[in-house]
Amino acid sequence: MLIQNRRELSAADVTPKSLWLDRRRFLGMAAGVAFAPAAGGRFGLNEAQTARKDATSYNNFLELGESKEAPAENAHRFNPRPWTVKLGGETAKPLTQDIEALLKAFALEERVYRLRCVEAWSMVIPWIGFPLADLLKKAEPTSRAKFVEFVSLHDSARLPGQRNPLYPWPYREGLRIDEAMHPLTLLAVGMYGDLLPGQNGAPIRLVVPWKYGFKSIKSVVAINLVETQPKTTWGSMQPGEYGFYSNVNPAVDHPRWSQKKERRIGEILKRDTLPFNGYAEQVAQMYAGMDLRTNY
Ligand code: MTE
Repeated sequence: MLIQNRRELSAADVTPKSLWLDRRRFLGMAAGVAFAPAAGGRFGLNEAQTARKDATSYNNFLELGESKEAPAENAHRFNPRPWTVKLGGETAKPLTQDIEALLKAFALEERVYRLRCVEAWSMVIPWIGFPLADLLKKAEPTSRAKFVEFVSLHDSARLPGQRNPLYPWPYREGLRIDEAMHPLTLLAVGMYGDLLPGQNGAPIRLVVPWKYGFKSIKSVVAINLVETQPKTTWGSMQPGEYGFYSNVNPAVDHPRWSQKKERRIGEILKRDTLPFNGYAEQVAQMYAGMDLRTNY
């Protein structure tokens, strides 16, 4: 269901002073040259950013281990080069692009987004990336493209957690086409002024700030435009707990715990969880008329 008349986002919706990165310096950093983030553009959400140390050492990335500490501990075993991203399915112009070419092809932008995990913790992270829509438009989706499927790297030599037979590898996620085209939906290639560390989904990952964190799939190698709702890792493993939409919703509890509050990493007192993670004004209209209890 595509909703018409979507209000375009103003820069203030995403990053009050949207910071357009010095791309040459960022790419220079990719080749090992030091990178100093441009001063002044950093901004905000009216909230403190999560300490970089916390955001890079408390992660869910099953391919690098099951505990929160394991991804950072095992990231040195994960080399995110060489890397290609394949965009296919219902498109007029399918494309396969090397990560370096992708970094050059799009204007990178810093955006500070909240990310709220289904486990009731949250972070505020300065991501660097470009709107997913920019990439999708390049491939010219056909009229049959109703959903977008995302697939992570499947390579147990690089991602040893994939030797764990409990999970159906590779990790998969999906969005409806209007969600994927929404200007808030970001393909991130960096954070805190740096390239993405392995534990945070190097070299390229999705960030969908109004949905629970597991929708923000890491280390993406394939993006497929499809006609029917794709299967997702958590949706196929525990369909009663993890729905396709997974919009942050304090009114709908996870079957085993409440979603009313969250612990911001680095803080002691819990905060109230906001509908759509605080992005309701920008995204709620995409779900007008839908029962968000059934479509959890
Ligand atoms: N992507 C892959 N490929 N594998 C995963 O295990 N975990 C998800 C998501 N993306 C996961 C993934 C979950 S549960 C969360 S909360 C976010 O990544 C966390 O992102 P962060 O580590 O950058 O905060």
